[in-house]
Amino acid sequence: MTSDTIAEPTFDRHLSDDWREQALLADVTAGLGSLPRRLTPRWLYDDRGSELYSEITRLPEYYLTEAERAVLHRAADEIVELSGADTLIELGSGTSDKTTTLLDAFAAVDRLERFVPLDVSEQTLRDAAAELAERYPGLRVHGVIGDFVEHLAVVPHEGVPLLAFLGSTIGNFYPAERAAFFRAVAGWLPDDGHLLLGVDLVKPIDRIMAAYNDEAGVTAAFTLNVLEVINRELDADFDLSAFEHVGMWDPNHSRVDLRLRSLRDQHVTIERTGMQLDIAEDEEIRAEISTKFTFRQLDVEFAAAGLEAVRAWNSDGGEGALVMGRRV
Ligand code: AVJ
Repeated sequence: MTSDTIAEPTFDRHLSDDWREQALLADVTAGLGSLPRRLTPRWLYDDRGSELYSEITRLPEYYLTEAERAVLHRAADEIVELSGADTLIELGSGTSDKTTTLLDAFAAVDRLERFVPLDVSEQTLRDAAAELAERYPGLRVHGVIGDFVEHLAVVPHEGVPLLAFLGSTIGNFYPAERAAFFRAVAGWLPDDGHLLLGVDLVKPIDRIMAAYNDEAGVTAAFTLNVLEVINRELDADFDLSAFEHVGMWDPNHSRVDLRLRSLRDQHVTIERTGMQLDIAEDEEIRAEISTKFTFRQLDVEFAAAGLEAVRAWNSDGGEGALVMGRRV
């Protein structure tokens, strides 16, 4: 292939048509059917939720997105050099907007062979893949429609890979899920491969909590929207005005805990799961967690999974970091 050929992206699809519906049903049945009630954060991101999240990233209080963008920009050349990679894989790639910084750095030294974005959202993935194939002539774009935990194992092994998991999404994982993910990464990485992980760092609690209890109430609208998703997709009758958003710091787990608190005793019917819920006043449903890390903690978790950090880049204000890891 000559370097100015625009190759058609190719795709592997690992999700069935009813995957989302089945997964939501299973998650709501298990998560709302047990106490304390909880939901998996992925359901926050329907069209409306994704829009609200993108609004969050532009809030004055929300430091994370800008911090990662800046550090990625500053570190990109070094990441390309250190990784020696010719293949970039991005887990949960979404629109791949932040990825262009990395792709540009690879392209600048003519080392970019392949980009493998993986995402659950097929249309978003196809649109992003088409755009990138056009923007980087000669780049082979191989999209994987799948879940970044379940389908990491079937990501094709090609070239020298850099496996990117950005945006601090790892913060949404519970400790056991994180351990399983790091083990899966260690299992997938070849000897010459690297992981690039975006994390949010522990910092003064006020600064963290301001980002999740923003003045404009966008985060509140974002978490409440998950009830709308369940209403729409599972025929439920949650009254959104009967819940309030609560963001609190959990010092034991070093994480933000985002919950929906019931403002009164209430009864909720979820037709598609056949559930009848009695939710008491002040009872809470956990919508999401957002873990904040120290390098020390990450080192411990990497080591337990058979990984080691080779380099880390802090944002200027120390808000967040990119960590490059490899198999021990
Ligand atoms: C997309 C997981 C990075 O944890 O900060 C933002 C999601 N939730 N405000 C985060 C989120 C509420 C966000 N991540």
